[in-house]
Amino acid sequence: VTPDIDALRRAGQIAARARDHGAAQIRPGVRVRDVCEAVEAEIHRLGGQPAFPAQSSRNEIAAHYCPSPEDETVYAEGDLAKLDIGVHVDGWVVDTATTVDVGGGEGNAALVEAARAALEAAIAVAAKDVAVARLSDAIARTLRERGLRPMQNLCGHGVGRYLVHCPPPIPNTVAGASGVLRAGMVIAIEPFATRGSGQVKEQKDAEVFRLPPDRGDAAGLDPQLFATIRGFAGLPFARRQLAAWPRERVEETLAVLWRKGWLAVYPPLSEAGGHKVAQAEHSVFIGPDGPVVLTR
Ligand code: CO
Repeated sequence: VTPDIDALRRAGQIAARARDHGAAQIRPGVRVRDVCEAVEAEIHRLGGQPAFPAQSSRNEIAAHYCPSPEDETVYAEGDLAKLDIGVHVDGWVVDTATTVDVGGGEGNAALVEAARAALEAAIAVAAKDVAVARLSDAIARTLRERGLRPMQNLCGHGVGRYLVHCPPPIPNTVAGASGVLRAGMVIAIEPFATRGSGQVKEQKDAEVFRLPPDRGDAAGLDPQLFATIRGFAGLPFARRQLAAWPRERVEETLAVLWRKGWLAVYPPLSEAGGHKVAQAEHSVFIGPDGPVVLTR
């Protein structure tokens, strides 16, 4: 499939603006849910669609924290807050993230700087016919020079049409990096920096789900709710986005889809030692004439 570069550029511009709009609102006392919803509203206002529900993981939680419809959590002074968002235009997906040092927490700035520097180091070597391992090495070295580590098992990835994760993986360490970047690929590069070991621990209570487009049928389910879930076109969704439905019916439906083995579930992922984590992410089109950073 030849990527639609115009759609990708538009998605990238919308994502950059929505990310910066959301990040500017992250302050002590502000509700996490309000920031995520403001990001999604901005994406719609600018003519895009969320490619996944906006997520904002704080401190030792590295990824996949998505507020529930009732979540009253607020950012606190000293938090290290990630904001990870996805946008698509006509199915063409971009993925970008930033980290906000909320009120200047101890040690936060160094982690933010390291994640950004690692991202820029990887972008600087990204081009067609370059081994993925060169990007991984640039990330790992940038973090190591600062006495930090990446999160293991959290890695960059290709994005595709209605796909947030597809080959090639872009690992944050050289171990496991393989393959070569090809012209026409779109990749999301996302270093995570921590002072901990970088081991990932899965938490309970996922708020993010995915129904692959080829799975499932409405048998025994509320047909309209099922159609709404189908409407995410195989992209991730959150309970928050089903808040118009009675909660009980949402829970029943998710439980049935889960029991039948159709539903993918994405619980929050935390640093096992409880160490803070910073993230930076851009989506990059590997063009025939050079890389294009879509989400600047
Ligand atoms: Co990503």
